[in-house]
Amino acid sequence: MISTALLALLPLVGAKTLSVDFSTYDSSNMTVSEFLASKGLMINTYDVDTGGDPYTHTYEEANVGISGGYLTLKVTGGTKSGSTVPSACIQTNDSNILHGTFKTTAIASDVAGVCHGFYTYESDSQESDIEILTSHLYSGNDAVNPGLQLTNQAINGNSSDNTRKAIAYPSDPTSGEHEYKLQWSSGLTEFFFDGSMVASIDTNVPTAPSAFLWNSWSGGNPNWTEGPPTEDAILRISKIELDYETS
Ligand SMILES: *[C@@H]1O[C@H](CO)[C@@H](O)[C@H](O)[C@H]1NC(C)=O
Ligand SMILES: *[C@@H]1O[C@H](CO)[C@@H](O)[C@H](O)[C@H]1NC(C)=O
Ligand SMILES: *[C@@H]1O[C@H](CO)[C@@H](O)[C@H](O)[C@H]1NC(C)=O
Ligand SMILES: *[C@@H]1O[C@H](CO)[C@@H](O)[C@H](O)[C@H]1NC(C)=O
Repeated sequence: MISTALLALLPLVGAKTLSVDFSTYDSSNMTVSEFLASKGLMINTYDVDTGGDPYTHTYEEANVGISGGYLTLKVTGGTKSGSTVPSACIQTNDSNILHGTFKTTAIASDVAGVCHGFYTYESDSQESDIEILTSHLYSGNDAVNPGLQLTNQAINGNSSDNTRKAIAYPSDPTSGEHEYKLQWSSGLTEFFFDGSMVASIDTNVPTAPSAFLWNSWSGGNPNWTEGPPTEDAILRISKIELDYETS
């Protein structure tokens, strides 16, 4: 016999919540890596060569910290030509996420030349992104429209066919905490800033089980991040709240 309480839970099978308030971190108790692991998150450490960018970047554990109540994702300033840009990236342990709501409360860096990303990722053709380009908050160029960058990468793998929108910032992303939410459902990606929907995209919606990632990096490409930054650029995340289904 199945109890009423259990029946009430049945529709939630496969549903997960991952919520982290970074002010709860106690450095006397555990390392940042251990804290993240206890929450179901891991620090990525690998090299990224996008192919088209003047600089490669490297995700380094040393560039991920928790300080003053914030998860800090740092791009180290002053990278010389020919070197890799020290960058930062974390992700969910789960890489079988299929649909969900992903909220990040953060303060963007006011240092030019980096990209902060909050995104679902399975491969370069299965990816939905919220991105903040610190060089293109309010000014663009031939390749980049200014504003909050919202993208579904092309399912066919041809980046020329990516679905992109750039939305004027409702308020300054560098001057205080704002909540960025990506809502991924079957056939539709919706994007929210401080609780208000700012865009939706119904093409190139990912269909593959994915992880969710947060990163900060620079490729030194005037067509996207600009940079690399001349001083340290730090993304500060106070909390994340994810509700998702796993496949
Ligand atoms: C470490 O943190 C855990 C979880 O908050 C807590 O239960 C434990 O008492 C802490 N240990 C020490 C030595 O502070
Ligand atoms: C996340 O993965 C790490 C590394 O494999 C593991 O130590 C940790 O227990 C996992 N966290 C959860 C909540 O499953
Ligand atoms: C990529 O898409 C663009 C624009 O749709 C098209 O002109 C180009 O031929 C495509 N490239 C490949 C390799 O299919
Ligand atoms: C930037 O875009 C322009 C025009 O598409 C292209 O000619 C140039 O090679 C690009 N620069 C880099 C560094 O990718």
